[in-house]
Amino acid sequence: MGDTAFTPRVFSGIQPSGGLTLGNYLGAMRRFVEMQDAGTYETIYCMVDLHAITVWQEPDALRKNTRELAAFFIAAGIDPERSILFNQSQVPEHAQLAWIFNCVARMGWMGRMTQWKDKAGKNSENASLGLFAYPALMAADILIYHATHVPVGEDQKQHLELTRDIAQKFNNDFKVDFFPITEPVIEGAATRVMSLRDGSKKMSKSDPSDMSRINMSDDADTIAKKIRKAKTDPEPLPDTLDGLKDRPEARNLVDIYAALSGMTAEQVIADAAGQQFGQFKPALAELAVEKIAPISAEMRRLMADEAEIDRILARGAERAREIAIPILAKTYDIVGLLGAR
Ligand code: TYM
Repeated sequence: MGDTAFTPRVFSGIQPSGGLTLGNYLGAMRRFVEMQDAGTYETIYCMVDLHAITVWQEPDALRKNTRELAAFFIAAGIDPERSILFNQSQVPEHAQLAWIFNCVARMGWMGRMTQWKDKAGKNSENASLGLFAYPALMAADILIYHATHVPVGEDQKQHLELTRDIAQKFNNDFKVDFFPITEPVIEGAATRVMSLRDGSKKMSKSDPSDMSRINMSDDADTIAKKIRKAKTDPEPLPDTLDGLKDRPEARNLVDIYAALSGMTAEQVIADAAGQQFGQFKPALAELAVEKIAPISAEMRRLMADEAEIDRILARGAERAREIAIPILAKTYDIVGLLGAR
């Protein structure tokens, strides 16, 4: 970064593609709330519906999932007064800046993205162009606010590196110090929550097995059942984290316990040393229910008043545009586009 001082500003987003998991909560949402509550940043959080449509979404389901995601943000502790909470498609400047970034980013950069390779797979000829350009829109989400910090789970790291590359190339190409080089914030005990059925795979809404994940909408019995049936091994818990090196499923449960309780993984293992899973799992299930049930109950309450959610999002979009419009205008000016005059 050059000498320009940027306002400490946080941006992050979640796709409203249905099925919010414990991974989204522990890997992202918890940090969003902490950064809001820290009071040292302006915080901006977004439902990235334009990203969601890079793969097929039923229109009615997309509308419902977008409102449900808004309810999740609020129920988990995002205050729409203290943070700006809005829906991406209601702020057209994201898509406008993304077009400029499509012209800055290189095909080779996009082609190297592991999420593109995973999602498009062998059938890339048939994937949408939007899916390929996805990371340029993500860079636009962040840079349209000159955000300096982006809290995410581990799986978004490569996309954030690309965001830095795009900012850097734009600044170099136009010989300006206009876009900040954003810092990823990948912190906490659960930056990569793994599947409950396979400790080598990330917990994901797209896993065909519902037993592999805890959904934020699961009731207490379902959460307890999924944790009871989570894959583990017959060994008791060791007394140090080192002893979990080759036991990814066990490590995952310890990390989840740590993140939910606010302890470090080291503290959890020190307390639980020698326990069998028959003892550890019920304690974890109880803790998970205690933390998740109030959020899902509050989500259901909020979802009963869709008009209120829509009002909150409209107000959030207005506030977001106050920041985005002048940054887009300046970008147009730097690039030599007359559009903003
Ligand atoms: P998305 O919608 O897949 O996930 C939202 C957030 O949840 C985190 N996450 C996890 N963290 C830990 N363990 C898991 N198993 C897990 N699953 C999901 C993700 O890392 C993410 O932080 N491309 C982004 C959305 C996006 C965005 C942005 C993020 C669009 N524009 C700008 C930050 C800044 C995505 O698909 O996240």
